[in-house]
Amino acid sequence: MNVPLLDLQAQFVSIRDDLQRAVERVMSSQRFVLGDEVRRLETSIAEYCQTKHAIGCASGSDALLLALMALDVKAGDEVITTPFSFFATGACIARLGARPVFVDIDPRSYNIDPSRVADAITPRTKVMMPVHIYGQCAWMDPLLDLGRRHGIPIVEDAAQAIGATDNGRRAGSMGDIGCFSFYPTKNLGGAGDGGILTAGDDDVAARLRRLRTHGGSNEYEHEEVGINSRLDELQAAVLNVKLPSLDKWSDERARKAEIYTKLLHDSDLRFPLVTPQVRPDGRHIFHQYVLRAPGNRDALMEHLKNHSVGSKIYYPIPLHLQKCFQYLGYKKGDFPEAEAAANETFALPCYPELTEEQQVYVAETIRSFVPQH
Ligand SMILES: Cc1ncc(COP(=O)(O)O)c(C=O)c1O
Repeated sequence: MNVPLLDLQAQFVSIRDDLQRAVERVMSSQRFVLGDEVRRLETSIAEYCQTKHAIGCASGSDALLLALMALDVKAGDEVITTPFSFFATGACIARLGARPVFVDIDPRSYNIDPSRVADAITPRTKVMMPVHIYGQCAWMDPLLDLGRRHGIPIVEDAAQAIGATDNGRRAGSMGDIGCFSFYPTKNLGGAGDGGILTAGDDDVAARLRRLRTHGGSNEYEHEEVGINSRLDELQAAVLNVKLPSLDKWSDERARKAEIYTKLLHDSDLRFPLVTPQVRPDGRHIFHQYVLRAPGNRDALMEHLKNHSVGSKIYYPIPLHLQKCFQYLGYKKGDFPEAEAAANETFALPCYPELTEEQQVYVAETIRSFVPQH
């Protein structure tokens, strides 16, 4: 049996006709950028995320950059975030000349540990940027409380977490700005790059709209310098077709996750394997199903590969140890939980179309692994 890490074909086949009609509609209109499809998507995403506004842009990475620009993050400012995330989380801060201030993660959820955040706040802290890693919200209440007490706005990096909730609140609706990615592998993935921002405040939303079109509210008058980060009509059309199925797909992912966890707990494993933590007060959309295999991760992944099971490490190098961030002065050992997670975790295939047979095969393959020491 072959179990790829992700199978986008399976989803495509189920919505092929609708997608082709949507693409044809855009081609016939010959309107390609920020048109009716984008406006429709923005309205639907705002509703879906329980926010007043949604503003489409060219990628999740741009969404993060635009969010920080809209909150006036500048050289010399500090932005508190997690070292255990996709590179864009740290890069958007550095690109504005600001300083990423990393705070270690909670070893069970892999999200930023809110109990460590207060110590990282300084008079220069401009924004706090938690990441909802793997599709489960960071523990937002303590962060929101800190934000209120210190007057620090919060940007949610919800790139992996569209539809996730924390105590009934949707990802992207709790902080000042939410940032989402429509990269094709995401739970809601486009046919290329795309992203969207959510915001509750009218002025922030208006500024985000301006910033994504070179800082101008019309084509030739520019109040400030922004960037070119528009969302394509083709992307929006594809996403408009997919959005109505998103909850069904995310629920299916969560169901597959539950099945894996049960199968693995019922297996008599010869090595320690930690299954994902699911917060009881939230909805985990399982963008990734991530296991922890201390001491055996790499050999276990090799074993899976030899049995045609895909797996991948998200993320092998924490941000504070990236070469480009050497100038920040962090060193190995500064964030032991993030470093341990980088050394011990890996993701299994987990998508709506995965079959139970495939899951049983993956679990059996894991069970047949014999540690070398
Ligand atoms: C946590 C996180 N932040 C930001 C991004 C950036 O999104 P994009 O790839 O759409 O630029 C991603 C995408 O992989 C992500 O996972």
